[in-house]
Amino acid sequence: MAHEENKAFLRRVPLFSSLSEGQLDTLAAGSVRKNYPRGRTIVSEGEPSQSLYILLSGRAKVQRSDAEGKEVILAVIGPGEFFGEMSLIDDAPRSASVITIESSDFMAINKDSFKAMLIQSPEIGMQIMKGLVRRLREADKKIETLALLDVYGRVARVLLDFSENIDGERIVKGRLPRQEIAKMIGASREMVSRVMKGLEIDGYIVPMPEGRLVLREKISAYIN
Ligand code: CMP
Repeated sequence: MAHEENKAFLRRVPLFSSLSEGQLDTLAAGSVRKNYPRGRTIVSEGEPSQSLYILLSGRAKVQRSDAEGKEVILAVIGPGEFFGEMSLIDDAPRSASVITIESSDFMAINKDSFKAMLIQSPEIGMQIMKGLVRRLREADKKIETLALLDVYGRVARVLLDFSENIDGERIVKGRLPRQEIAKMIGASREMVSRVMKGLEIDGYIVPMPEGRLVLREKISAYIN
């Protein structure tokens, strides 16, 4: 039963769309489904790797920290995305920690099953490369943001990145605490609060009920 369920979940993951029934069977046999509450560390920076993870639902942040416990958020991962592939590919320790920011469902795929699949299916290798390239593009954009934009621009870029187009308006729907924005852009929480207040007073952002935020079009001027 669990096997068939796991297979059904894997079949819906774009990364595995090219696999045959037999290949899905092999992968499902080396997979377990897990649910974690918000704030749970799934992968710890510096530890050896055992599994590749697919996020089925929820959200998780990719984070690194220094010896003093200062943290930087490198990315936020959403449904359908995978993580934990880097240390499986190069056998080095985990490059970052991955921590849930909402209750989340995962599929954990055992290292050996995944490596066997990589060898068998060039299509999966290509999909993993595409994922790595996408992350490199995003990391390039982040370097540009940190090097060239002031704090207003950095906050504006995060807000735009987290917004979606709903009925012609750019809206940030989910919870986006100031502390988390601060960790994404290398600023203090106090500074982010000041900038958000300034953006609100000047009409760049409009707070709505339930923590939603409407972004006015002119906010794009900060990142150009
Ligand atoms: P791994 O090093 O095995 O464990 C941590 C994971 O975080 C890593 O694999 C990637 O899947 C993910 N990760 C690391 N850096 C980034 C990044 N800049 N953007 C998105 N995901 C990342």
